[in-house]
Amino acid sequence: MASTGGAEVLVASNRGPVSYDLREDGSLHARRGGGGLVSGLSAIGPDANAVWVCAALGDGDREAVRRAEGGRLPTGDTGGQQVRMLDIDADVFADAYNGIANSVLWFVHHMLYQTPLEPVFDAEFRRQWGSYQAYNQAFAEALAQEAGQGAVVVIQDYHLALAPRMLRRLRPDLRIGHFSHTPWAPPDYFRLLPDDIAAELLSGILGADHAAFLTRRWADAFVDCCHTVLGPGIPAADPASGSGGTRIGVHGLGADADFLRKRSHEPDVDERMRALREEIGGEGRKTIVRVDRTELSKNIVRGLLAYRQLLDDHPEWRERVVHVAFAYPSRQDLSVYRDYTAEVQRVADEINAAYGTAGWTPVVLHVKDDFARSLAAYRLADVALVNPIRDGMNLVAKEIPVVSDEGCVLVLSREAGAYEELGEDAVVVNPYDIGGTAEALALALAMPAEERAERCKRLAEAATALPPARWFLEQLGALGG
Ligand code: F6P
Repeated sequence: MASTGGAEVLVASNRGPVSYDLREDGSLHARRGGGGLVSGLSAIGPDANAVWVCAALGDGDREAVRRAEGGRLPTGDTGGQQVRMLDIDADVFADAYNGIANSVLWFVHHMLYQTPLEPVFDAEFRRQWGSYQAYNQAFAEALAQEAGQGAVVVIQDYHLALAPRMLRRLRPDLRIGHFSHTPWAPPDYFRLLPDDIAAELLSGILGADHAAFLTRRWADAFVDCCHTVLGPGIPAADPASGSGGTRIGVHGLGADADFLRKRSHEPDVDERMRALREEIGGEGRKTIVRVDRTELSKNIVRGLLAYRQLLDDHPEWRERVVHVAFAYPSRQDLSVYRDYTAEVQRVADEINAAYGTAGWTPVVLHVKDDFARSLAAYRLADVALVNPIRDGMNLVAKEIPVVSDEGCVLVLSREAGAYEELGEDAVVVNPYDIGGTAEALALALAMPAEERAERCKRLAEAATALPPARWFLEQLGALGG
């Protein structure tokens, strides 16, 4: 395919750095996203010839694409970045994103299926798989058009597992990387997928020169799946990658300390700290803080149940502790996420009704996404509860120790990617063990101030070892970019 663009560096991801709301008067309101990729890409500087290719996620985005001149969003909306947003047919997008990426691949890698009834790989699944292929092909074609000769392309995540090989076919001259932000399933679980689909996914990623993961554990699982599904020599000698095989990398994205420390001391955060302190009430009351998307893998309900058990088994903490739980609705197109969101609310209400008193609300639950308030909770945290069933990394586990005012104790699931880097100084839990988590919370609450401060300092150092800018440059560096 002929290249019409001349970009030297390209990023591809489902969600881009900006999304749009379409207002009733027909105007578009741009909202900039945060996260590792946004700050990472800024590391290559405003003059770099870089393009970010992403999908239009909703009606506002689609309208923005229609109004975009030359296929690029206005740089005033994107923080200066060149962004090409793809207007993929809405039904194809819904099948690929909700149907395959979030209901199949996310479930496989986070091992979320309740296997007596799920998964169901039937004709409807095959139809949606066709959409997932078309969605990946649309990205591959856009990247092929935008990339200059020999450009470096870094393709992100499970939404785009097929794109590396598709792009390789269109443009053998490119240097292609793929980065997985999720865990990777071990072979026994990965092979729930139909054999041809499992092979297509692995081969898709092996179309890249470099396939990278957040931890050694996920990288090893990927290699194990390749050996089991594709054969013992893969990925080391994959001829189709065009460059002597796919190299496997591990780059553990860390917290952006400079940004977080500055942002968490701005006036709106101070204001929310005052409001939150009022909600918590009670002189010297301790806080157990969690901040998550309301995501099945985050294990919020078991966290609430562990807190309830703490109040039962250690009644001395009643009236002296509050569980500050921020759970921001996510993927609400999927009924299983809507049900889970309702269950979080129900269990929190139940605890408050059973244990609350006139001057004490045991669980302070907020569901409206508010970044300044999340940072306020980070600063107030005595204990941070991060107990996912499985998680690629979990940046909250890294961010709270960086921001916390007094030094917090991190109660951390051994199934979070962050455990590899933070496990030594955290109080580690099996996320399924509610009693064990309750005891870990008790231990964390009672930890002497000096020990808590020392551990927190070491956690913050480990958490910031690979800030987003360096993490991103490492991806490019692995491709010789
Ligand atoms: O962990 C993978 C990931 O893509 C993250 O980068 C991100 O936090 C999350 O999933 C977002 O999911 P969605 O775009 O579906 O809201």
